[in-house]
This record gives sequence, C-alpha cells and structure tokens, in this order.
Amino acid sequence: PRTAVVIPAAGRGVRLGPGAPKALRELGGTPMLIHAVRATARARTVGLVVVVAPPDGAWGVRSLLDAHELTDVAVVPGGDTRQDSVRRGLAALPDTVETVLVHDAARPLVPHETVDAVVAAVREGAPAVVPALPVADTVKQVEPRTDAEPEPVTGTPDRARLRAVQTPQGFDREVLARAHARLAPEGEGATDDAGMVERLGVEVVVVRGHEEAFKVTRPLDLVLAEAVLARRKA
Ligand code: CTP
Ligand code: MG
Repeated sequence: PRTAVVIPAAGRGVRLGPGAPKALRELGGTPMLIHAVRATARARTVGLVVVVAPPDGAWGVRSLLDAHELTDVAVVPGGDTRQDSVRRGLAALPDTVETVLVHDAARPLVPHETVDAVVAAVREGAPAVVPALPVADTVKQVEPRTDAEPEPVTGTPDRARLRAVQTPQGFDREVLARAHARLAPEGEGATDDAGMVERLGVEVVVVRGHEEAFKVTRPLDLVLAEAVLARRKA
C-alpha cells in the first residue's frame, strides 16, 4: 500500500478515569478502538492500518480486531509516551508506504471525508498536514501554578489566528520518520506529530477539521460521543 494509518492506542486514559485502557472503553457497545479503525479503513485512500496496542495488551487487541473481522489490521505493542508509541507503529510499516497518517484511537468518530482530505493534501505535495478548527473560547497564556492559587495571565493570543488541532495528521513518510529519529522517545514536549515536524523546519499546513473528530479525553466527552453515535443511527 502507498498510504497507511498508524493508530496510537496504548494510552491509559487517566483523564477519563478508572477502568479499561481508554481505547478499549466502549461507545454504543463497541470499543472506541474498533470505531477508530473502521473510520479510517473506510477512507478510500487508506491501504493499511497499524494499531499500536497497550504494551501488555497486544494479544488482546489482536483478538478483539479478529472478532470484529478486522484481520488485515496489524498490531504492534506501544510505549510509555505517545511519541514512543507512534515511533513503534512507523517502524512496522512496509517499504511501499509513502504517505502516513497518525490517528488517535481516542478520536473514534472522525468522518472518512476528513481522512481522505488529509491524504489528498499530502499527495498534492504538502509534507505535513493537520486538520484543525477555529477555537470557540478565548485562550489565555498563564504562569502555571500547581496549587489551587490563582494563575497570573501573561497574554491573550489573537483568537482569529488560533486553531485547535485534530487527527489524522498526514505526512510524507520520510519527513515523519526523520522527525521521530531526531527526537528523544519522550518527544521532548511535543504534543502532536506535526509539532515534531515543525522543529525540523518543515512547513506544516492546516486543512479544515471536523466537529465529530473531537478527542474523547474526559468523562463528558463520552457523553457527547454517545450522542453523536445515536444521532447517526437515527
Ligand atoms: N497513546 C499511546 N501511547 C501512549 C500514550 C498515548 O498510544 N503511551 C495514545 C492514546 O491511546 C490515544 C492518543 O495517544 O489514542 C492520544 O492520547 P491521549 O488522548 O492523551 O490518551 P491517553 O494518554 O490514553 O489519555 P490520558 O492522557 O488522559 O492518560
Ligand atoms: Mg495522554
């Protein structure tokens, strides 16, 4: 295949609260990871899906995928950080792959049109493409305090120039591999893959994301995700 998706799913989901690893938590009775795999595999342009499983859970994820007739999906064990997990997924890709997408298992409801739009932008020549949306809230920069003390505000970036970034993020394979090879496994503070590519000095562009590509991070996000699923079925 020319285009592959790596789905990091090795996180514990601390912010979602106690329970199974986040990717295995259910939405509409089906694990979030299965939704995420189907959502990306459904895209016309995607030829291969690689899931990065919790380090001690690769066998369980393999049987889960098989049980959902997703036998073509590859599984590799993840690492302690998201960047380390992505790196392990990249290492499992066959040589034919030229375009790589990285998609959070925690964004189970991304529409396939968004996936195809990211792939199209990479194939048209952009080395790094991220889907994103304008932000609704005004954003403040603060001097962070770890206790419950009020935090001094140090600035207010112009909201019109801000975008909230989603996944799948799409890359020229060679560029993403270079970004990962250069950084320590901890990712040196990068919270997304495009951020690592920016540090190489390579241009990253934003295409329009989708409201339904939101990340399930906190308990309220599960409520929203269930509602979106129910609306789709209606
Ligand atoms: N991820 C991963 N390996 C890690 C950490 C995160 O593959 N060591 C994945 C998660 O499974 C998720 C995606 O990266 O699909 C985005 O991360 P996030 O939403 O932060 O998920 P968690 O790290 O699981 O959640 P939390 O930070 O609340 O623990
Ligand atoms: Mg996390």
